[in-house]
Amino acid sequence: MASVMEDSLKSQKFHIVTPLLESWALSQLANMTVLLKYENVQPAGSFKIRGIGHFCQEVAKKGCKHLVCSSGGNAGIAAAYSARKLGIPATIVLPESTSVQVVKRLQGEGAQVQLTGKVWDDANVRAQELAKRDGWVNVPPFDHPLIWEGHASLIRELKAELGAPPGALVLAVGGGGLLAGVAAGLAEVGWQHVPVIAMETRGAHCFNAAIEAGWLVTLPDITSVAKCLGAKTVAKGALACTKEFTILSEVVEDVEAVDAVQRFLDDERMLVEPACGAALAAIYSGVLGRLQSEGRLSPSLASVVVIVCGGNSIDSQGLQALKAQLG
Ligand SMILES: Cc1ncc(COP(=O)(O)O)c(C=O)c1O
Repeated sequence: MASVMEDSLKSQKFHIVTPLLESWALSQLANMTVLLKYENVQPAGSFKIRGIGHFCQEVAKKGCKHLVCSSGGNAGIAAAYSARKLGIPATIVLPESTSVQVVKRLQGEGAQVQLTGKVWDDANVRAQELAKRDGWVNVPPFDHPLIWEGHASLIRELKAELGAPPGALVLAVGGGGLLAGVAAGLAEVGWQHVPVIAMETRGAHCFNAAIEAGWLVTLPDITSVAKCLGAKTVAKGALACTKEFTILSEVVEDVEAVDAVQRFLDDERMLVEPACGAALAAIYSGVLGRLQSEGRLSPSLASVVVIVCGGNSIDSQGLQALKAQLG
């Protein structure tokens, strides 16, 4: 029989209520109040802990013996963190390009690490093979209703803090789990009319490609430096959101995402990764203003919330290297 302590570990949330702070610098640039939802300060360094923590707790209740998660970095760290909290072993499978600091972080959480293939999709194949073992459970990094249910907590927090809906929300899209979770949250709190600006980098733009085509598209390769956005195909559930919500899909170049990372570091003294730079580029590259002038967003938006999604896969040297690489 499980102890009271074990039971409480399985039900206590692993994520924290993150700060929502107005950015003076970004508000000046955008000509409206820019509120930053600081998901990079989550215990596992990104918003991923919301959905993945929830998923892991649910499967732990059902007797899972070993967690396996394929990841570009952040999902794996969230799964390893959750596994340690739950006292369950974890194996995290990542592409061979994964940075040393992410591997060290995972090992520090007590997880076994396997590196395989070029991109996340390759790691995912291996994770699904491993999950066939008895008692092992695959933790889907973005494509599962439990993941979306967990991510929806972010919108509940916004509702509790703001009361009234913001003019728009900005987020980054990889496999589309954050988008689907945010959409679920918006519906839950009655904010389904809030426009969502869904940002991707070129070379990891599977959501934009799907919207253009009208169906799911598998990119031939991931060529963006924003490896954490690097799913070749977006989740079906994310594409389905475009039917019920106002989602504006925008693609920026890698150089814009990395420039946003540098400028955000100077403006807010926080180092985030290119995946998050993609979201911040909505303001630094003037995407928001362009959408307003094109009439796709109201010209009189009072405020926008940007989800500062994560900062695990970067350090000062990594930023210098990216800048040198992109010129
Ligand atoms: C920092 C960061 N931002 C955004 C995303 C995109 O999330 P999703 O795959 O749920 O679309 C990821 C995915 O790993 C991420 O690590």
